[in-house]
Amino acid sequence: MAFELAYAFCFLLLLLHLPFPTTAQTNKNIPLGSSLTALDNSAFWASPSGEFAFGFQEIGRNGFLLAIWFNKIPERTIVWSANGNNLVAKGSKVELTADGQFRLNDAATGKQIWVADSASTGVSYAAMLDTGNFVLANPSSINLWESFDQPTDTILPFQTLNQTSTLLARYTATNYSKGRFHFALQPDGDLLLYTTHFPLDSANTIYWSTDTTGSGYQVIFNQSGSIYLTARNRSILHMISNSTVSTQDLYQRATLDYDGVFRHYVYPTSTGSSAAGWLKAWTSLSFIPPNICMTILQEKGGGACGYNSICRHDQGTICQCPPGYSFINLDDVLKGCKKNFISQSCDAASPETDHFYFQEMQNTDWPKSEYEKFEVVTEDWCRQACLADCFCAVANFRNSQCWLKGSPLLNGRVDPINGVTGLVKIRKENSAMGPGGGYSKKKDNSTLIVVGSVLLGSSGFLNFLLLLTIYLVVSRIYYRKAKVSQPYLVMNLKYFAYEELEEATNGFKEQLGHGGFATVFKGVLGADKGKCVAVKRLDSMVKESEWEFKAEMSAISKTNHRNLVQLLGYCNEGEHRMLVYEFMSNGSLAGFLFGESRPNWYQRREIALGIARGLLYLHEECSSQIIHCDIKPQNILLDNSFTARISDFGLAKLLKMDQTHTTTRMRGTRGYLAPEWFKNMPITGKVDVYSYGIMLLEIICCRRNFEEEAEDEDQMVLADWAYDCYEQKKVHLLLQNDDEAMEDIKKLEKYVMIAMWCIQEDPSLRPTSKKLTMMLEGTMEVSIPPDPSSFTSSIQ
Ligand SMILES: *[C@@H]1O[C@H](CO)[C@@H](O)[C@H](O)[C@H]1NC(C)=O
Ligand SMILES: *[C@@H]1O[C@H](CO)[C@@H](O)[C@H](O)[C@H]1NC(C)=O
Ligand SMILES: *[C@@H]1O[C@H](CO)[C@@H](O)[C@H](O)[C@H]1NC(C)=O
Ligand SMILES: *[C@@H]1O[C@H](CO)[C@@H](O)[C@H](O)[C@H]1NC(C)=O
Ligand SMILES: *[C@@H]1O[C@H](CO)[C@@H](O)[C@H](O)[C@H]1NC(C)=O
Repeated sequence: MAFELAYAFCFLLLLLHLPFPTTAQTNKNIPLGSSLTALDNSAFWASPSGEFAFGFQEIGRNGFLLAIWFNKIPERTIVWSANGNNLVAKGSKVELTADGQFRLNDAATGKQIWVADSASTGVSYAAMLDTGNFVLANPSSINLWESFDQPTDTILPFQTLNQTSTLLARYTATNYSKGRFHFALQPDGDLLLYTTHFPLDSANTIYWSTDTTGSGYQVIFNQSGSIYLTARNRSILHMISNSTVSTQDLYQRATLDYDGVFRHYVYPTSTGSSAAGWLKAWTSLSFIPPNICMTILQEKGGGACGYNSICRHDQGTICQCPPGYSFINLDDVLKGCKKNFISQSCDAASPETDHFYFQEMQNTDWPKSEYEKFEVVTEDWCRQACLADCFCAVANFRNSQCWLKGSPLLNGRVDPINGVTGLVKIRKENSAMGPGGGYSKKKDNSTLIVVGSVLLGSSGFLNFLLLLTIYLVVSRIYYRKAKVSQPYLVMNLKYFAYEELEEATNGFKEQLGHGGFATVFKGVLGADKGKCVAVKRLDSMVKESEWEFKAEMSAISKTNHRNLVQLLGYCNEGEHRMLVYEFMSNGSLAGFLFGESRPNWYQRREIALGIARGLLYLHEECSSQIIHCDIKPQNILLDNSFTARISDFGLAKLLKMDQTHTTTRMRGTRGYLAPEWFKNMPITGKVDVYSYGIMLLEIICCRRNFEEEAEDEDQMVLADWAYDCYEQKKVHLLLQNDDEAMEDIKKLEKYVMIAMWCIQEDPSLRPTSKKLTMMLEGTMEVSIPPDPSSFTSSIQ
């Protein structure tokens, strides 16, 4: 395998460094009788400046595509093609005959595959123009045929779309045959994006429209890079992309990508003066619709990502399979996902109810897939109903409403607004009936970024490289997996080159924080519309193996909860190990609690509950349990709506977390560390509950657990003082000048009691994070806690 990899990379390097073929003719006009033969990628006619070329490109090993492409960039991005549905064999020929016909014949079958249907005869020459337009013209230079009039999936500056013009998405990134989406200026003047009843071309669902029936006339891509719909009188009816970046400095194109998104892309030219700040790759400036996952909602068809899938919009369109499912075809993600386990038996004699369990997915909905709906029921009732029903593949639950949904699931998507909980029903391992086993772990091809709007161009060449790389990575992973039987890896994290992060952080300039094992910097992803990120540079690692690093990354990447800080990507280059997180604009909980202005009681309660929910997710609801091991206010961040987000989870295994160093434990006080750490006892999720208990007191009282300068010695350690106050029924002493909390004294007392339960010495007395959450939510009674300080001496 190593050999194969090395070989493939040499091959890539060769491809990248070979100068592009020189056999191209650069004279302006192509006379009658000229022809090109598909042999390798060297058969083409270039435009006078060499920017564009017309000719053959080999598509993988499948055959040759007659196409027009950007010829001065390594990707050689295709902007037009003649025979996407019918690739031709090696040796095929396109010729401009003596009588002015322009046609493509397949060498394998001898058949005519394509012909330029110029209305009148009289063609005297052809020309590849510098605009990217290929024309057939008569002796007076009147164009009789133009590639600009027959667009495929792309338009270029200077190109217009008239009524009845349509762009058709290709099938996949590397398959140029017709796909599932149309961008069409209707004869009535309305400009639409719609899905088709693939493989037919008939319209299924319109997912974007300008609503300009009766007035829309032309779509114009003008030379300063604006794309808009005009009326007959040339007034602008709808601006599609108002970017106005110069065509001198940037190559531009607008493509209906195979995922159904229409994107305006730019790429710096080598001569462009102001192009210095741009990445040498196609970057998307703007796109429609804003979030395709939410806009495609159809009664029939799979939605944006295909049957049984989940669509998530985040930088690009991300298609995912639910847990227990995997892609039918990794090369054709929009085909959807299949179950990796045997469906539940409908036999009344063996209902198999206890052979299945639920994987909970926050904010994940499959609208329009339900076959049954129940109202005024509990979530537990909903789960039982789905378990007992062999047709039920997932249940969705929200506000005492329960929907049961069967396969195939439609329109799957992450919908952060609607707040629905998705419950995916999966067969337990070892509960299979019949041969072949139940839940197959063999392959987890369950996530793929379909089209990153940032880096992934869609030229054949780049995609070929991309596909090759994905193939190599994936096959390498499976190879490794066979050897070490690690949990499966999911590739839904962005990989960053060190250089990219160095640039994003301006040379690691603005430090956000520093801990025992890492330094955090603020960064701005230039290629991603200036999105702010936090880049965490790890200084010390326990596990040096790349594989283990990736496995941890994978476990973290599979988490998704509103009370966790989302990991966006990572860098693992030489000795550089870095993690890229979303940026949290309101800093840490420590700054918030112990800063100048005290947050209000309501906010503090919400934060306490949010953290508990995040812990519950880490401990019980994500695919493999994650114990945080370092819960403290410094590790809780607040987003722009002051929602609490747990950070740094999943790192405990990865880092040299010498616990006595990472806390501010002082002699004679209790820090956030549970006693197990000092007693050689097993470390379980209860250590996080302990730390949470200490932190809960800090949240309630807005003071640190240990304050040396406390007026009264009894008040130095908050945990002790709080118990004293509670026991003497004087919890009001804990807070001064906090009227809101005083009015809510019952709840204040309850929170103190919950905290006391959390910091019990005996881990088995502490609540689980589930019980903790229920107590905070008020769905579980809180009984009288024993005195936790009875063990103070034992931990010193
Ligand atoms: C659209 O109409 C213009 C004239 O307004 C013409 O030059 C152009 O070729 C037409 N394009 C298409 C795609 O029909
Ligand atoms: C492209 O996809 C179509 C539709 O699934 C398929 O029929 C065709 O064989 C594919 N072409 C290539 C070159 O893979
Ligand atoms: C141009 O046409 C549009 C739509 O038909 C109309 O709303 C607008 O008033 C017209 N503008 C001018 C300047 O005639
Ligand atoms: C292109 O359109 C934009 C938006 O209407 C306009 O500001 C710009 O001047 C136009 N450029 C040219 C060269 O017409
Ligand atoms: C395009 O953007 C410019 C400034 O960026 C603005 O002045 C102009 O009004 C915009 N045009 C349209 C049609 O939105």
